[in-house]
Amino acid sequence: MTSVLEGQVAFVTGAARGQGRAHAVALAEHGADIIALDICTSIDTVPYQLATRDDLDETIRLVEATGRKIAAFEADVRDYQAVADVVNTGLQQFGQIDIVVANAGVYSFGPLDSVDIELQRWRDIIDINLTGVFHTIKASVPSMVARGKGGSVILVSSTAGIRGLRSMADYTASKHGVVGLMRTFTNELGPHGIRVNSVHPTGVRTHMITNEELVQWYADNPSMAANVSANLLPVDLIEPEDVSEAVLFLASDASRYVTGLEMKVDAGFTERL
Ligand SMILES: NC(=O)c1ccc[n+]([C@@H]2O[C@H](COP(=O)([O-])OP(=O)(O)OC[C@H]3O[C@@H](n4cnc5c(N)ncnc54)[C@H](O)[C@@H]3O)[C@@H](O)[C@H]2O)c1
Repeated sequence: MTSVLEGQVAFVTGAARGQGRAHAVALAEHGADIIALDICTSIDTVPYQLATRDDLDETIRLVEATGRKIAAFEADVRDYQAVADVVNTGLQQFGQIDIVVANAGVYSFGPLDSVDIELQRWRDIIDINLTGVFHTIKASVPSMVARGKGGSVILVSSTAGIRGLRSMADYTASKHGVVGLMRTFTNELGPHGIRVNSVHPTGVRTHMITNEELVQWYADNPSMAANVSANLLPVDLIEPEDVSEAVLFLASDASRYVTGLEMKVDAGFTERL
């Protein structure tokens, strides 16, 4: 395995399972030490289980198996102070942050018309998927600016950050909001040599999509299936590692002059006519 990230430190949110775990392991395989957080508990308005402490422990095990170090914590990205505490503890341990992957996110489903989304669900999705990303940036980026060595900030959006998807105005708005953060911070951090890009996956084979509640919801509401099953390339769901390849590219010097990019890993989903 190449060590293109040797000596670097990556901060990854939502790292207990799914894409966040895959990113943490891939970054470690390429030489980075990892600061990780995950909520490790479920939320009432999210109809599937979020990660557990056991999941986070498995990420720790997998990262350590690469030979790199990891500092991993239970924290909720809705709680700014909790995120800042994780960053500060990680900085004490590793001394620096070079790469930020704002990946923690949730999805919800229920009413077919977005106007019927319950208010608490709206608040939770925006708080986690959008405000949580801002918290992640706010807690980590000042240390990168102060250090003066540049870096890479990678914000996980979605195809729902590029086009509208039915029945999920909250998720779609949150993921478009992430693009707004990306564009703003691209401008503000460019002079510091810090690149900011967003990643836009199509449906990825993680518990967010494969949970039985959502599978049943699509079975009950076949008209909604186009939200996730309309890739142009012949693939239903991509793998978390497919997204990690994009994260690795954006984290490494291979993309040293790439900033402000909405990088689609979407099997053509958003180009579908
Ligand atoms: N799976 C897909 O089809 C898909 C497609 C496009 C984008 N995404 C995005 O990719 C990212 C990762 O999702 P995934 O597919 O790995 O799903 P996942 O549910 O397996 O992973 C999300 C992780 O975030 C954690 N998390 C949730 N709320 C949190 C909070 N408040 N604070 C800290 N951690 C929290 C969860 O516990 C979980 O470990 C999300 O931002 C998601 O919106 C997913």
